[in-house]
Amino acid sequence: MKRDHSPVLPGDGATDYARYMRTDTLLDLQRRPEEMIHRDELLFQVVHQSTELWLKLAGAELVEAVARVRAGEPAAAEPLLARATLGVRLVTDQLEMFGHLSPADFKAMQPALGKGSGAESPGWRRVQAASRQLGRAFTDHLAARGITLSTLGRPDPTDPVHRLAEALMEWDERVSLWRVRHYQTALRVGGHAPAGAEATMLAKLIGHRFFPELWQTRLKPADGSVDSSRASRP
Ligand code: HEM
Repeated sequence: MKRDHSPVLPGDGATDYARYMRTDTLLDLQRRPEEMIHRDELLFQVVHQSTELWLKLAGAELVEAVARVRAGEPAAAEPLLARATLGVRLVTDQLEMFGHLSPADFKAMQPALGKGSGAESPGWRRVQAASRQLGRAFTDHLAARGITLSTLGRPDPTDPVHRLAEALMEWDERVSLWRVRHYQTALRVGGHAPAGAEATMLAKLIGHRFFPELWQTRLKPADGSVDSSRASRP
């Protein structure tokens, strides 16, 4: 029997798929060939726009994770953080597409970008703000329950707080790995001075951690204790 594809949902689009996914709007968000000054603008926009979508999801999951931690439910926060982390892994992989963009082609399209920079990415800004909130929520959770950082240095897979601490470190690591890949991309594709302030800044950011206290617990001071006073949150 032939399937009836006539839409039942309200809205624009020839099918329910188009109406629900809003594909007409989505696929109209890239510059048309007649607007482009270089055909690789499509590659450039697709990578950036899809990154913004994954970061939108990651940011929403982080915001919900903050709420779960604040509600005293660390076990509920962990899978949300795992989703955000997978989102960052996916956007890290997407950077590989720039291995197919030559410096000459990037230079040719740069006038189309104006003064735009990924540093203005709303997705990254939201994710960074939510990560800082998550760090504060986690610290408050520990303080309210009298849990010390030194006990977190000995991971216990059966304890939700320990599991969340591991997930926070995984998040930090994945963001850093994105920055490694992004730094390599910036060097390879170019568009800035080779040893200039921008490249130095990108290299330095690789060492940034949202949850420095947790990383401190992995250091082993001579006396065996954990010195959390050395932790800093940039
Ligand atoms: C050809 C591809 C790319 C090149 C050549 C490039 C280059 C650069 C450069 C030179 C900077 C530092 C200077 C500045 O602030 O503008 C930067 C920063 C930044 N870019 Fe990119 N970028 C690329 C792709 C992306 C993508 C796909 C994203 C994702 C949204 C992104 C997000 C960022 C962010 C968030 C920063 C701020 C530094 C940080 O938080 O690590 N970039 N990029």
